[in-house]
Amino acid sequence: MLVLGIETTCDETAAAVVERHDDGRATILSNVVLSQIAEHAAFGGVVPEIAARAHVEALDLIIATAMAEAGRDFGTLDGVAAAAGPGLIGGVIVGLITAKAIALVHEKPLIAVNHLEAHALTARLTDGTPFPYCLFLASGGHTQIVAVRGVGDYVRLGTTRDDAIGEAFDKTAKLLGLGYPGGQRVEQEAARGDPSRFTLPRPMLGRQDADFSFSGLKTALRLEAEKIAPLTDQDVADLCASFQLAVVETVVDRLRRGLKIFRQRFGAPAALVAAGGVAANQAIRDALLNLASQDQVALVVPPPSLCTDNAAMIAWAGAERLAHGLCDALDTSPRARWPLDQVGKPLPTDAGTAGVSPAIACPPAGRAGGRDARGPGEPADSVSPNTARSVVV
Ligand code: KG4
Ligand code: ZN
Repeated sequence: MLVLGIETTCDETAAAVVERHDDGRATILSNVVLSQIAEHAAFGGVVPEIAARAHVEALDLIIATAMAEAGRDFGTLDGVAAAAGPGLIGGVIVGLITAKAIALVHEKPLIAVNHLEAHALTARLTDGTPFPYCLFLASGGHTQIVAVRGVGDYVRLGTTRDDAIGEAFDKTAKLLGLGYPGGQRVEQEAARGDPSRFTLPRPMLGRQDADFSFSGLKTALRLEAEKIAPLTDQDVADLCASFQLAVVETVVDRLRRGLKIFRQRFGAPAALVAAGGVAANQAIRDALLNLASQDQVALVVPPPSLCTDNAAMIAWAGAERLAHGLCDALDTSPRARWPLDQVGKPLPTDAGTAGVSPAIACPPAGRAGGRDARGPGEPADSVSPNTARSVVV
């Protein structure tokens, strides 16, 4: 099953072609990502209107490049997948409408993919991780612990009460004058800083639920920085190191709690899985490895390039849905908000109708095969590892 994926929800214009074999294994045939960092850098963050225009300008060429690198033409595709949300709505519209045009012209099924679901299923693209697993989704807009029980079957166990974890990294970077994008810069600075110099709070530590909060930590960091301003290079490095350590310790505590809740509700998880841009952070990856070995659970962390936004994950999520006979109408609406636990519900359409049938019929369900043979609610199957296996941490 060959699927073209398109990603335009934020500041990456991306297209990829992924093949899903009948036994559930995957091959990434191409994975092209164009970052818009240069366009947004002067503004210290992503400007939605600039992002949407940049997607319009770049997307056709990025798709053509992805198809050429894969060595396939549109006629050979089994489906066209685009991230239909959540995200910056201008960009989402650009990607989804382009996918609709390709699907219509080449008479292929359209799959409107939830961007968070694509992050959630990446561990199956890279490592063939069987259901159910405990997901730590850590991105610029989301911080969640999710029980991933099957394609389209997600139960949120914990979430942030305020800022997302990536947002906390980005705001810290901005406050310390490190620019955009912030996460990587904070990590670089932290590597040469003293994490014990500043005492910062560990929000939510020890609570019974599995929720997060980062706004207090951000404020505490700002107050420490103001006390010692003007900041030297070493001050900045020490603040970054202290901040990163506080985040890491909070994440470990919250995930330990999340794993406990997972076991109480669903039994043993097949793995602890990390996804989203913040999972590219090496300190967090190291901490997760420790936690997983103490907690005796397998750990799957995709390579950094598949943790940050990319289209291979969109193509893969599209292929997983297609293998279950799931595809979408050509008047499916783009969505700025689209919580992961609502993925199973029907999408609204532009016409506001409950379900205009797809212009191109979905393939029959049951081609899932291998690790996908199971539908939501059925027991987990055993799986063999995937050909595109990631190097774990
Ligand atoms: O998943 P992603 O690429 O886009 C969203 O869907 O949000 O995540 C982007 C977020 C940004 O907040 C970025 O600062 C953060 O991931 N990030 C990092 C690192 N690399 C990216 N945060 C901490 N350390 C990193 N190395
Ligand atoms: Zn993302």
